[in-house]
Amino acid sequence: MTSATSLFAPVEEDLRILADNLKQLVGDRHPILYAAAEHLFGAGGKRIRPAIVLLISRATMLGKDITLRHRRLAEITEMIHTASLVHDDVVDESQMRRGVPTVHSLFGNRIAILAGDFLFAQSSWYLANLDSLEVVKLLSEVIMDLAAGEIQQGLNSFDTSMSMETYLKKSYDKAATLIANSAKAAGLLSEVSQETAEQLYNYGRNLGLAFQIVDDILDFTSSTDTLGKPASSDLKSGNLTAPVLFAMEETPYLEILIEREFAQEGDFEQAMALIHNSHGIQRAKELAAEHAKVAVEHLVDLPPSEYRQALIDMADYVLSRLY
Ligand code: IPE
Ligand code: IPE
Ligand code: MG
Ligand code: MG
Repeated sequence: MTSATSLFAPVEEDLRILADNLKQLVGDRHPILYAAAEHLFGAGGKRIRPAIVLLISRATMLGKDITLRHRRLAEITEMIHTASLVHDDVVDESQMRRGVPTVHSLFGNRIAILAGDFLFAQSSWYLANLDSLEVVKLLSEVIMDLAAGEIQQGLNSFDTSMSMETYLKKSYDKAATLIANSAKAAGLLSEVSQETAEQLYNYGRNLGLAFQIVDDILDFTSSTDTLGKPASSDLKSGNLTAPVLFAMEETPYLEILIEREFAQEGDFEQAMALIHNSHGIQRAKELAAEHAKVAVEHLVDLPPSEYRQALIDMADYVLSRLY
């Protein structure tokens, strides 16, 4: 299994600088906002998104050093991601994130919403300061997509008629858009051609979809301890993800349990058992693997380097989280 640590080795020093900068960037405007943000940056996530931005930056700047703008883009990417998680945890009423209590469970919902807004606003400010209108357009669209994805998910809860297409669109909005657009933006900062920029976008899009599908599978197959956030939570709250959508095709009774929102005793446990006994999880794995494969196909334009290799291996890493 490819571990995230060895995968990130070519940009390890860059990620260390990023971790220091993130804490500084949040600044000291208000002690509570600072405490809330520091709490999450301190706990540290997997840092997959900034690692991808840094790897693409280096893969498109061979023989030169990456610029401060590349670094800032990686920081903005992690800031936007973290802001979306702070809000997501309020929406999901989730108590744990990155192995520590969530911002809202420590400081209350009002502070968590304001802290998330603060991080979004701050990332927009740093974004504007990159002085690239094209990059501003890409990343501000991401912020719209993230909110749209959360709203869409809320509207579709317990909706057994939701199509796979709607699920994938929502997954693009919640997860893939950030990886896709920041990948493309990193290329643009290196002044790659429009064609290469599109390839980078499609790499990020497909990798992001694979990543979200894997996250959705892990919600069924992993534990709260391993994930550092609550497991078995999506179905309970009516968030119907790929394993459920596939399982419903085989097991129509599942629809009845979901439609009555697990109102009767044992409904939820029975639904979980039906999903585990179906091919839902296996088919979701195949769907994730397909997207991971397509992602890698979009890297052919890049000249070979250890950075490109790490981007290729990233696709295996995303899938290997399942094992
Ligand atoms: C969680 O993302 C949200 C999803 C889009 C699935 P990560 O799994 O990358 O979370 P951290 O940043 O490592 O905590
Ligand atoms: C991604 O999806 C969250 C955002 C992009 C806001 P999830 O809702 O699956 O994320 P987790 O599972 O809570 O990390
Ligand atoms: Mg969530
Ligand atoms: Mg999830």
